[in-house]
Amino acid sequence: MQKLKRLLKKTKIHKPIKKILFTLSGLKVKKGFEFVATKGLVKIPKTVIFEPTIKCNLNCQMCYQKEERIRGKKDLTLEEIKKIFLNLKKENKIKKVALIGAEVFMRPDIFEIIGFLNNLNIKVYIQTNGTLISKATVERLRELKNITGIGSSLDGKKELHNKIRGRSNAFDKLFQAMDLLKKYFTITINTVIMDENIDQILDIAKLLKQASIFNYSLQFEMAATPEEIGESRKLLGINISDFAVEVKADNNFSFGLDKLLNILEKLNQIRGLDITIQPRIFNKYPEFYFNGTLRENCSNLYCKEINAIRINAQGEVIFCPFIKKSFGSLLEKDLEGIWNSQNFRDFRIRLLKNNLTPVCKRCCRLGLIQAESKK
Ligand SMILES: C[S@@+](CC[C@H](N)C(=O)[O-])C[C@H]1O[C@@H](n2cnc3c(N)ncnc32)[C@H](O)[C@@H]1O
Ligand code: SF4
Ligand code: SF4
Repeated sequence: MQKLKRLLKKTKIHKPIKKILFTLSGLKVKKGFEFVATKGLVKIPKTVIFEPTIKCNLNCQMCYQKEERIRGKKDLTLEEIKKIFLNLKKENKIKKVALIGAEVFMRPDIFEIIGFLNNLNIKVYIQTNGTLISKATVERLRELKNITGIGSSLDGKKELHNKIRGRSNAFDKLFQAMDLLKKYFTITINTVIMDENIDQILDIAKLLKQASIFNYSLQFEMAATPEEIGESRKLLGINISDFAVEVKADNNFSFGLDKLLNILEKLNQIRGLDITIQPRIFNKYPEFYFNGTLRENCSNLYCKEINAIRINAQGEVIFCPFIKKSFGSLLEKDLEGIWNSQNFRDFRIRLLKNNLTPVCKRCCRLGLIQAESKK
């Protein structure tokens, strides 16, 4: 089937005839959201989100990767990573890779990985906690010409950031790193909005401005109750072990929406900062999003992860950062064999048919079908 699809793509046939042949062969993957919802088919994206390691030197209180780390699965070797990306490039013309941890700089061979992607003409975005970056690291990163930006995380002023991140020098290390990196790379700082740091959001923004870091992104703490995980598991027909979300008995915020909106208004008055609140649906329906009642009030929810290839540290194509259901290993199969497999298609259909799941309620990847299709 895949060979036929490639052949049809390459063959010079009059366009309308080609269209009919594609449709008759049942291989045409339309871009429309309706098509995703009814058939589960999605065109293979050109961007990959890759978790090169599950290891981390910090132990942040809210980290959704904790359970995964405890399971202690082995990371891919450099040779396995090269093999996977060589195949992806050959087959699917991958253009961008976002390297997201746990902590990417825990891998001593991270520069070889980025260099290999550079040789394949693939751009790279890096997300890091910023504590393992020395002058030498920056020099090596500078030699690589494919880095489009670096993201890092700040969760409070010094004392609070160190407390949340579980390390007494996390704050100083982060600022030392940003100082070195900002001369050469575009930096974005991300804060997870939580009960613990709501009163320090404005201070964080001021700290960033003082440090001449101008891109500031905020997202909400993602946590689910055991009941929400149980219900989501049933709706999707997957296992509890497929979830990698922070578990809390009560995941409502201790502060009110008014307080948050007030802070955000003041944040927007700080001149010179480019502020993004993830997801954008929060701005459209702040109350539903904040109260966790979007599923009940909007019937057209969409998940942006549907259009991203996410590969975990073992080389498996997984669905999203929080629902780590695996659809197959790239060490065993090519992406085309995994991406629109019956299993993966059924999963997408179930996800959209159920208007996502209770676990999704405060996710930064939430979107709307209508809003997305207008793009
Ligand atoms: C898992 S970390 C990996 C990259 C790197 N180690 C770091 O901390 O930036 C990616 C981002 O997810 C955020 N994060 C961790 N746990 C979260 C949670 N429960 N809800 C929302 N975001 C979370 C982190 O603060 C960080 O900005
Ligand atoms: S630094 Fe990143 S990956 Fe490590 S524990 Fe913190 S949030 Fe998780
Ligand atoms: S909205 Fe998407 S990315 Fe977020 S938890 Fe749900 S399925 Fe995963």
